[in-house]
Amino acid sequence: MFTLAHLSDPHLSPLPAPTRRELAGKRVTGYFNWQRKRRFVHDPAVLRRMIGDLKTTATEHIAITGDFANIALPEEFETLRKWLPGLGPQYDLTVIPGNHDVYVPGALEMMQEACSASMRGDDDSTTFPFVRRRGNVALIAVNTGVPTPPLMATGRLGEEQVSKLARILAALREEKLFRVILIHHPPQSEAPRHKRLTDARAFLVVVAEHGAELVLHGHDHIHQLHWLNGPTGHVPAVGVPSASTRPGTSGDAAGYNLYRIEGGPGDWRCEMEMRGIDGDGKVATLKRTMLIA
Ligand SMILES: [Fe+2]
Repeated sequence: MFTLAHLSDPHLSPLPAPTRRELAGKRVTGYFNWQRKRRFVHDPAVLRRMIGDLKTTATEHIAITGDFANIALPEEFETLRKWLPGLGPQYDLTVIPGNHDVYVPGALEMMQEACSASMRGDDDSTTFPFVRRRGNVALIAVNTGVPTPPLMATGRLGEEQVSKLARILAALREEKLFRVILIHHPPQSEAPRHKRLTDARAFLVVVAEHGAELVLHGHDHIHQLHWLNGPTGHVPAVGVPSASTRPGTSGDAAGYNLYRIEGGPGDWRCEMEMRGIDGDGKVATLKRTMLIA
């Protein structure tokens, strides 16, 4: 059995004070938004509780689907660089960017430097999609983050990533691995237009043709489960809340999911355990579901 933990959107804080120069462009609206609202939502103490709880589980690998930063200041990536080793060995951690990590041009490069050991493929490739194989599981990491105009949080894969993803999924199916796609934006197109993955349709076509065993995403800061069309059945696409959301503020209270994967090709079993802050303010199991039985 392989146990994979998925968390997302930690939105690390406190946010360092930006210089006037750093606030130019899109960052000014993001900074205003943080000061007015988001700083009351994302609580580093809540995030520490999630990580503390995660460490009591028998997790073998942690996947984090982006939005570590808020307005992509250089100091935020320094915070990220220092935060990652506390999660464990970087071999057992895979991260991808979210829209807040690529908030402005040049931000992705800063993130790549901060996450040099956890955001690269087994072949050391830092271009997306990259693949990491751990036991029977293959993690396929894509990047939907693109700098956007103020007040927009859309994502885009682009034709190159979509066509590479198709080839990778086909090859990994031949290898008979349990394929987990990590993507920041939800691929199902129900999000408001300004938050959407603009080429979600192309992603869904690839999954419908080549399949995947599991799709993990963040971005909406709520628990979600959708079933995508695959070539031989439906593919679960699961979203988690932000791992730092203070209960009763915005979206769902902080949580993360555990996946226990066993079996083999044609006979996979995958149990999902949702953990998070319950109605009594305790970190507990919120739900257990057999996603693939
Ligand atoms: Fe996001």
